[in-house]
Amino acid sequence: MDTGKTSMLALNARKGYSLDRNFYCDDGIFAEDMEHVVSRKWIVAGHVDRVRRKGDYFLFKIGDESIIIVRSGEATINAFYNVCRHRGSLICTQPSGRVSRLTCGYHAWSYGLDGELLAARLMPADFAKKDNGLHRCHVRVLHGFIFINLCERDPVDFDATFGDLERHLDFHGFAGAKIAHTQSYPTDANWKLVVENFVECYHCTPSHPEFSSMHPPEALIAFGAGTSSGPADAVQDYLPTLRAWERRAAALGRPSGTIDDGPDSSHLRLLLQRTIREGYDSETEDGRPASTLMGKRRAFDQGRMYLSFSPFTHLVATNDFAVLFQFTPRRTMRTDVDLTWLVDGAASDYDVPRMTWGWDRTTKQDKEITENNQVGILSKRYRPGRYSEHERRVETFQEWYFGQFGRSDS
Ligand code: FES
Ligand SMILES: [Fe+2]
Repeated sequence: MDTGKTSMLALNARKGYSLDRNFYCDDGIFAEDMEHVVSRKWIVAGHVDRVRRKGDYFLFKIGDESIIIVRSGEATINAFYNVCRHRGSLICTQPSGRVSRLTCGYHAWSYGLDGELLAARLMPADFAKKDNGLHRCHVRVLHGFIFINLCERDPVDFDATFGDLERHLDFHGFAGAKIAHTQSYPTDANWKLVVENFVECYHCTPSHPEFSSMHPPEALIAFGAGTSSGPADAVQDYLPTLRAWERRAAALGRPSGTIDDGPDSSHLRLLLQRTIREGYDSETEDGRPASTLMGKRRAFDQGRMYLSFSPFTHLVATNDFAVLFQFTPRRTMRTDVDLTWLVDGAASDYDVPRMTWGWDRTTKQDKEITENNQVGILSKRYRPGRYSEHERRVETFQEWYFGQFGRSDS
């Protein structure tokens, strides 16, 4: 597929303005997005806690694809396209389960957990089972997070892309973490609207009272959506507070550092660490923890980590729990938004309502404002509008997005 429509419209995009409406509602552009952006990225499908035992599987749906994520051994998680090699039926139809074989319900072809075709009745003599195994999807596991990549050729190098995140993921103990709660917020909006909303905090004060209550206002302006998301003078004003917190956190063992990938990067990663509201130990209604310390922590450091693996997968970690955000494009104006709350693997006494208070409300609000944004853009009177200085990362995202259509490495 060529990149014609997107590239042509990109030429008319005005820097500092929101995108032309076609980027948010045109099926042809969505198809190009799937081909040139979504299918070339390493995207988190879920956490290993979903497939702890052999034969455990879950389905990850992205665009028109359904991917079977299955544990086939102690150390092996496989990912297969959920497409029978006989006549193409879905094989697994339940969203998750445990199986000893993957058996298609249509004519009962059955496959091993390694994808090999094991049984197919009454086939001609020249039929070779070994040539009819399931189509594999690229898969890697990094500190508990299962990444898939739909690329048909060699995908962008995984270790080179994410290797520098390991010390942070290790400190937070994600490999051994367990799932405390999951919630889905399917959003009737184009995936770029969902991402754009998540990478700006211009809307935090008007739209998110709970979220805003857990953070210093000056931090939300300076760093609400990343190190380069706010006005330069607000960043300068807040830096001394941030530096003082970094020194305290480092003394308690937290690995320091930030990452702020530019628009030329393959995954537009972001790593930001900062303090939460003064006197708060956790992102909860009253600041009291909802669980025990995660990972290698020795004490509460009043900080939080915001980590983007890509525009499709984000992680927010306070000291006692973390939230995984998955933004998965499904159709032109439909995006799956799935949140997973993670706690330390050894935690037993954790409080789910306390833990979900902030992000559950915030994500419901985000769903509403993003869907309203989509409906407004469908109007014939919509025209690209000017961004504030608090929406700089939206501009970076758009520059990155347009850049994907000329990439050769991924
Ligand atoms: S389509 Fe799966 S067995 Fe026929
Ligand atoms: Fe929001």
